[in-house]
Amino acid sequence: MTSTHQVTIVTEDNESITFDCRSDEDVITAAVRQDIYLMSSCREGGCATCKGYCAEGEYVIGKVSAQALPSQEEEDGIVLLCRCYPSTDIKVEVPYTYERISFSPEGLSFEAEVVALAQISSNVVRLQLRRTGDDTRIKFDAGQFFDLEIPGTDITRSYSPANISNNQGDLEFLIRIVDGGKFSEFLKQDTKVGQRLNVKGPSGIFGLKENGFTPRYFVAGGTGLAPILSMVRHMKEWGEPQKCVIYFGVNTEAEIFYLAELAQLIADMPTLDVRSCVWKCSDDWRGEKGSVVDILRRDLVATGAKPDLYLCGPPGMVDATFAVCADLGLPKERIYLEKFLPSGA
Ligand SMILES: Cc1cc2nc3c(=O)[nH]c(=O)nc-3n(C[C@H](O)[C@H](O)[C@H](O)COP(=O)(O)OP(=O)(O)OC[C@H]3O[C@@H](n4cnc5c(N)ncnc54)[C@H](O)[C@@H]3O)c2cc1C
Ligand code: FES
Repeated sequence: MTSTHQVTIVTEDNESITFDCRSDEDVITAAVRQDIYLMSSCREGGCATCKGYCAEGEYVIGKVSAQALPSQEEEDGIVLLCRCYPSTDIKVEVPYTYERISFSPEGLSFEAEVVALAQISSNVVRLQLRRTGDDTRIKFDAGQFFDLEIPGTDITRSYSPANISNNQGDLEFLIRIVDGGKFSEFLKQDTKVGQRLNVKGPSGIFGLKENGFTPRYFVAGGTGLAPILSMVRHMKEWGEPQKCVIYFGVNTEAEIFYLAELAQLIADMPTLDVRSCVWKCSDDWRGEKGSVVDILRRDLVATGAKPDLYLCGPPGMVDATFAVCADLGLPKERIYLEKFLPSGA
């Protein structure tokens, strides 16, 4: 029999909001029904954007991707709110502040026009969009992502801009082409300059944290470079003094991109170093030779550095880097990460 329970969401800044949720609906759906827009993206247990910690109460978790909610986390009380069905009143702590909760669907969606699309490596394209209409402001925290909809369908995919907030309406995305992927095929075959698409966001909690003057190391696998570039460009804009290093890894030399943009960033930012790592490279490759995880381990061991770490890219690379850092004794609470989980995984 269906019952109704109270869900209390407690944000990082200790604010809270309480609403009803039926035992047969998930928390995100119940919140939307009451005009409360919590952090979410795929709403099918695949992306981990809606992750929280259930501090009180009982619930059932529906079907989720093991990458988005590993079984150990589930045992520890971590929940994905889009797949969480309360069976009593529950209290859930979420890792973002109250201002990230929206109370109207407007402002979350807008239309943007394709300004340019260019292939920048063997498997990556740069998609540049510009917001249309009177209000052209693009506001987001560096590291967040937007959901882009394939025109004429209800298929959306998440992408993290590589640029920063601006008033011109510009969004710069770096997108890896996946064989047979729906958005990838749209980019390869149907995208035209001037075409319009719906954009929803920003979403997500990946972003810069303030931990005093600790150095920041960023580790990017392929297009995982996008949110990392956004964060480093934001640091440059604000003249933040912390030392930072970008470890940028790809599999082959043909896959590397943005070397000129990274060189320009180094020239503009005296506190920045970049290590471009190619795993299977030729003798001619002048950058780091090997996997980004091994190069990072080498440097951490050699220097004994204890930086804050920001990891982004394919789940396997993020998990392997996390394991190395934890193994070397870096505090887990200072390792921030975003996995580019496949949609609907
Ligand atoms: C928060 C977030 C931010 C993201 N930001 C970016 C970004 O900035 N740039 C970017 O390139 N991607 C990003 N992604 C991944 C992106 O959302 C899509 O999943 C990806 O582009 C594939 O979409 P598609 O429609 O082309 O393929 P789909 O139609 O979703 O998938 C087709 C097939 O390919 C498989 N597949 C999908 N992705 C991968 C993969 N990465 N590796 C191997 N197989 C895969 C699927 O399992 C499926 O079998 C992000 C994902 C998340 C969750
Ligand atoms: S919104 Fe819940 S896992 Fe994606």
